[in-house]
Amino acid sequence: MSLAGRFYITTPIYYVNAEPHVGHAYTTIMSDILARHHRQRGEDVFFLTGTDEHGDKIARAAEELGRSPKEHTDVISGRFRELWGTFGLSNDFFIRTTDEEHKTGVQRVLERIHAAGDIYKGSYGGWYCTSCEAFYGEDDLLEGKLCPEHRRPVEWVEEENWFFRLSAYRDRLLALYDQTPPFVRPAHRLNEARKIAELVEDISISRANVTWGVPVPWDHDHVVYVWVDALLNYYTALSYARPGEDMTERLWPADLQVLGKDILKFHAVIWPALLMAAGLEPPRGLFIHGFVLKGGERLSKTTGNLIDPLPYVERYGIDALRWYLAREIRFGEDGPFSDEGFDGRYHSELANEFGNLLNRTVSMISRYRDGVVPADGGADAELAGEVAERVAAVTAAFDSVDITNAAEEAWKLIRRLNQLVEERAPWVLAKDPAGAGQLDQALMTLAEGLRIVAILLWPYMPGSSERALAALGQGEGPASLAAAVWGGGRAGATVEPTAPLFPRIEPAES
Ligand code: MSP
Repeated sequence: MSLAGRFYITTPIYYVNAEPHVGHAYTTIMSDILARHHRQRGEDVFFLTGTDEHGDKIARAAEELGRSPKEHTDVISGRFRELWGTFGLSNDFFIRTTDEEHKTGVQRVLERIHAAGDIYKGSYGGWYCTSCEAFYGEDDLLEGKLCPEHRRPVEWVEEENWFFRLSAYRDRLLALYDQTPPFVRPAHRLNEARKIAELVEDISISRANVTWGVPVPWDHDHVVYVWVDALLNYYTALSYARPGEDMTERLWPADLQVLGKDILKFHAVIWPALLMAAGLEPPRGLFIHGFVLKGGERLSKTTGNLIDPLPYVERYGIDALRWYLAREIRFGEDGPFSDEGFDGRYHSELANEFGNLLNRTVSMISRYRDGVVPADGGADAELAGEVAERVAAVTAAFDSVDITNAAEEAWKLIRRLNQLVEERAPWVLAKDPAGAGQLDQALMTLAEGLRIVAILLWPYMPGSSERALAALGQGEGPASLAAAVWGGGRAGATVEPTAPLFPRIEPAES
């Protein structure tokens, strides 16, 4: 997946028409998990997120609130940035499409496409959905008048526009989809992209009656279509994200772009064609995830069933939210978000299976061995072998961008260690001096197994994993995957008893 030890990963940039919700947090947290795993591999990771601030949809949202577009975007973009900060997300830059450097970058790329002869003037009439910022054909509409994504009335828009010769890229797009490793994952989404590309037509890439946008460089009566402006963020950011350094050469093309299934067409079809037209390489891969559902419906402003992630984080902690989203929703599929599901996983998995295991291990080492983790009391060959298998399985799952499976593989180790506590019953061994060797071995095995599990789980729950490592006397900081080998920890470590990682939480008053 990554070449030359670098890994450039992006999230879509979020519309600033509404406050951040769990759907946005989902995309960003999943990308953060991937970014952190790749950092653990020692790769040179660059993780980008940001906000999509131009277009009619945003201008209208600002107007409804009696704000200028600029005032409005400053406020909402600020909320996103602040929330990601509160959540401890590890993005390396936060791009705003209103950044001057981005706007200049968009114009530069557009000029290249224009010079290549792939932009022409034409007139177009179509049904426009402002929520999607996209045109639809008559046949796409629901009941002849509603947008298929938002089920809201579309508007007839007819104007003279600048067009991009997308149809000329059909064969190159189809060839891109045949590449290995696959350009689009999961596999069924690749087929979807293929179907769209087969029928692709030229698209309008400017708007004449919209003013909130980037001016078309050779025709200031038009602004660049907001999707073209937005997609280019992935490329323009590299030129100015680090002051005094242009990272484009080093980091382009992106290694992995994460996005929801609603915006597949823009990313899998229009985006690579735009890049090809500009003489740039398409990204190495896209991962298309599903929707977070509430009561079976996608969270969205339009359906009015948004969930604010902040109360969950305040109540259970950010690691609990990260874990719930990664576990509950198979990455690539739709999945539910519910209070019962959240609370259930928090208590059964995090508090009981992981938190308790750590507490029991640390307190037994304190009680029976004065806090010092026994040295290898005879290698536990079976467990060492199982650990190596789990580490390999987690890494392989991450190679195929399977966040859910990687979590399952890591969790198997927690289950195995819990089983081991019951099997070896250290409290029984402790009663009999003849059992001292076996007790050493059991305690060492638990400490070592937990150390490795904490490393594997670090991308999912960085704060809790670091606390677990500290409690095991293994120091702090993001442990590298290279240390996830049996016997790879600090010898003679002293455990540091700690408050429960995941304290029990009383049910919310309803
Ligand atoms: N601004 C465009 C993206 C431009 S990228 C060049 C956009 N913004 S969005 O705010 O509407 O959505 C951004 C991302 O959030 C998308 O990947 C979308 O799928 C995701 N989600 C929004 N609601 C979601 C759910 N309910 N569930 C999962 N992800 C969802 O589209």
